[in-house]
Order: sequence, then structure tokens, then C-alpha cells
Amino acid sequence: MRIISAPGELTELISSFKKNNQTIGFVPTMGALHDGHLSLIHQSLKENDLTVVSIFVNPLQFDNASDLEKYPRVIDEDIKMLGENHVDVVFVPEEQTFYPQKPIISIDFGVLSERLEGKFRKGHFEGVGVVISKFLHLVDPDRVYFGLKDLQQYLLIKRMCTDLQFQCKVIGVNTVREESGLALSSRNRRLSSEGLKVAAVINRGLNFIKKGIIEQSDLQRLLKEVNKIYESEKGFELEYLEVVNPADLSSIDNYSHLSELAICVAGYVEGVRLIDNLYLRLK
Ligand code: PAF
Repeated sequence: MRIISAPGELTELISSFKKNNQTIGFVPTMGALHDGHLSLIHQSLKENDLTVVSIFVNPLQFDNASDLEKYPRVIDEDIKMLGENHVDVVFVPEEQTFYPQKPIISIDFGVLSERLEGKFRKGHFEGVGVVISKFLHLVDPDRVYFGLKDLQQYLLIKRMCTDLQFQCKVIGVNTVREESGLALSSRNRRLSSEGLKVAAVINRGLNFIKKGIIEQSDLQRLLKEVNKIYESEKGFELEYLEVVNPADLSSIDNYSHLSELAICVAGYVEGVRLIDNLYLRLK
């Protein structure tokens, strides 16, 4: 496994792969890797000749200095895990070489970045757009993989790649969960064992709505009941719970006309911000 930190060294290696007509799968990460990342990596290993993984905690996408500072960093553990899983290249840039000067551009996703996460994390998607564009230029992958736990991020990047005609295919990979239903996330490392139990309420709420929708129950009633479930879990502080049309992430209050929907939730446990969602195809 090659471990590279200089962008120039990475692009040289990538052009040697391209000369040999080798296909490249790319998995961008911020490290603190878990089985969710591994499922993206395993899919890339299956579908491409070579797999490149980046580890970079991108300061541009944090609107809160303390969240950035507290983001878990366990680089030695991560590199060991990537080696054991036969990744070909790990790109671990230093902030100063990756952003020799703070970029003045940002990617504007219009109304799509004002909804859901965008309402609560100002500038987040604009920063994700910049880092992913830059990675896609450097790695020039055939396929790039994103976890569907971050559904809005996946949809925005897919749209960005269409609008800017990036040649790679953007692939969403299903969320991996604990037995309790809790979605795997690097942030779960900051939870105590009690916090991990509390956080399982997030997925219980999502499944309650899913069951209700399958039984064709009224959406407003379901949302009220799930709000009660969330309120009754004392260690959980709900930030938002919305049912949206995945086409434009607009909030819906009934689903009779839709062929798909997503139930999206964000909240805090022990001061750690967690998100999850459940996608449902209806027809
Ligand atoms: O989902 C993440 O971990 C990050 O937003 C990403 C895609 C690696 C960009 O920094």
C-alpha cells in the first residue's frame, strides 16, 4: 500500500495507473474509519482495478471550531485497517500543502444546501463541494463512493458531478448499522456506552415512521408520535425530523403523490451531533 501526502506525488502515480488503463475507485474519508467505510472500500475493491482512499479532516466544511477540534483523529489505526483491507493508495494530505492558501471559491448548491443539514450547518456543503472537486481533479477516479447515511451530501455531490461534467460515476452505499440499529459514524467514538444505547432511539423513530407509511397511516400523526418517542428518551435532543422528497429535498406533509421519500433526522446525544435517514421506495 502506498501512503502519499504530497498532491503532486499522487497525480504522478495516478497518471501511471491511467497509462496502464487501470480503473480507479475513490473513497474520500475524514478518517476514524469503521465498518461503514469498509463497506465503501470493499465495493470499490470489487468494482475497480485500484482503490484510493483519502483521509483528510476538511476544515472548510466545519462551521464550529470545537466540532473540528473534537473530530476523532486516529491515523495509525486507520492506516493499519486500510493495509489489512488491501487498499492500494492512501492519500493523507497536510492541511498546508492541500490548501496552501484558503480557497476563495465555494460551491453554491442553491436551495439544495439550504434544506435539512444546510439549515443548521452554515457553509458545510459549500466546503464539501470544494474538497470533493479538488479530490476529483487529483484522483480522477472512474467511480467515487459515498455512504448513504449522509444522503444530502450524496445527492448534492451527484448533482455537482452532473452539472460540472466530472467523468466519474457517483455511487451511494447503504448505511451499516450496529445491532441496535444505530448508524455507524466516526462520531459514535465520542459516545459513552450509555450514550450509544440512547442513540439507538434515532433509528427506532425512523422505523416507526417506515412501518406507519407501509400501513398507509397519516404522516402528520406519525410525525407527532415519533416526536413523542424522541422526547421520552431523555438523553436525546432532537434537532430536526423531516420527511422529504429526495428529488429536491423539499419537506412533504403527505406522500400519496410520491414514488419515493426519505425520512431524515438529526439530534444530539452527550453533546455529539448525529444524523440518520431512511429511504423508502413507494411504488
Ligand atoms: O463524509 C465525509 O466524511 C466528508 O464529508 C467527506 C466526503 C470525506 C468530505 O470531506
